[in-house]
Amino acid sequence: MIAGYPTTAQAANGKAADRFARDVLTGLSRHLKTLPSMYFYDEYGSRLFQQISELDEYYLTRVEGEILDGYGDEIARLVRARPLRLVEFGAGDGRKTGRLLRSLLEADLELEYVPIDICESVLVELTGSLRRQMPDGDFRVRGIVGDYFDAFSLLDPAAGRTMVLFLGSNIGNFEPRGAVAFLRAVRRSLVPGDWLLIGFDLKKDPAVLSRAYNDAQGVTREFNFNLLERINRELGGDFNRRRFRHEAPYNIALGRMESWLVSLVAQRVCVPGVGRSFAFARGEGIHVECSYKYAPAQIARLAAAAGFLVRASFFDRRRWFVDSLWEAAPGT
Ligand code: AVI
Repeated sequence: MIAGYPTTAQAANGKAADRFARDVLTGLSRHLKTLPSMYFYDEYGSRLFQQISELDEYYLTRVEGEILDGYGDEIARLVRARPLRLVEFGAGDGRKTGRLLRSLLEADLELEYVPIDICESVLVELTGSLRRQMPDGDFRVRGIVGDYFDAFSLLDPAAGRTMVLFLGSNIGNFEPRGAVAFLRAVRRSLVPGDWLLIGFDLKKDPAVLSRAYNDAQGVTREFNFNLLERINRELGGDFNRRRFRHEAPYNIALGRMESWLVSLVAQRVCVPGVGRSFAFARGEGIHVECSYKYAPAQIARLAAAAGFLVRASFFDRRRWFVDSLWEAAPGT
């Protein structure tokens, strides 16, 4: 669905609603209850994530912005393809990407920018503001609302090279095996010589990580609770947020931040939209997100496993974050 145009949105919404109900039923029926973190991002959740990315404690967006500011010219020099199609998965408000787009245009590249996101309103805003800000001529933008790969398959073969952008440590929200599978699928949609620019949050002092996911204003808590509110809004659930608390510990063994919603009392929650109720013991948690933190050696192994060659790595000055530029390897 192209942002800003009338679409077959009802059919798509119906399908998405069925999938949400199915995933809620499966996740809450498990012995260890889980909910997929992708459901954070309805309209309200996407706005909350924008607020998170502006928090002092949540350094990830800020340091990645510094990297793209500092190395945009070098990325443009390495990628040098005309025309270049930039496909961004999970574009969000695209603020960081705007800086990279500027560097690429200053290097005289002809760009088609295709942001893909599951939240339509965020995408409409992003494409509108880019159309106003960027010079005409060598720059075109068209947003696609939807699932990354469905959207990717809608694109005609690119006339020149493609560079996929997967920024913001979004890869950190995948389990390790899922990350390999996902990046292999990205590789299959590219041809040798195409590019992937991917952002990883690096392992660091757990106190820094803990602050980033437990901010003083409680925006991250609200972001997590929105998942329960979403079940109430869309599936008629009767979750009472006062009966849960948000916890975000760092799991050192697994190298990941975890987000949990923990039941404060023994209770039963009814979700008519999935035709069931769910019992919670006091202290029982729903695991709602993991955010993996990487070591550089893990990143190199991941690239090789997915069929990419690491061409360059751009770190911020504290080496808290890296944007890694990968080239699609031949013969995969
Ligand atoms: C989108 N993603 C990379 C964020 C993260 O850091 O895992 C989502 C987030 N969760 C809590 N704060 C931010």
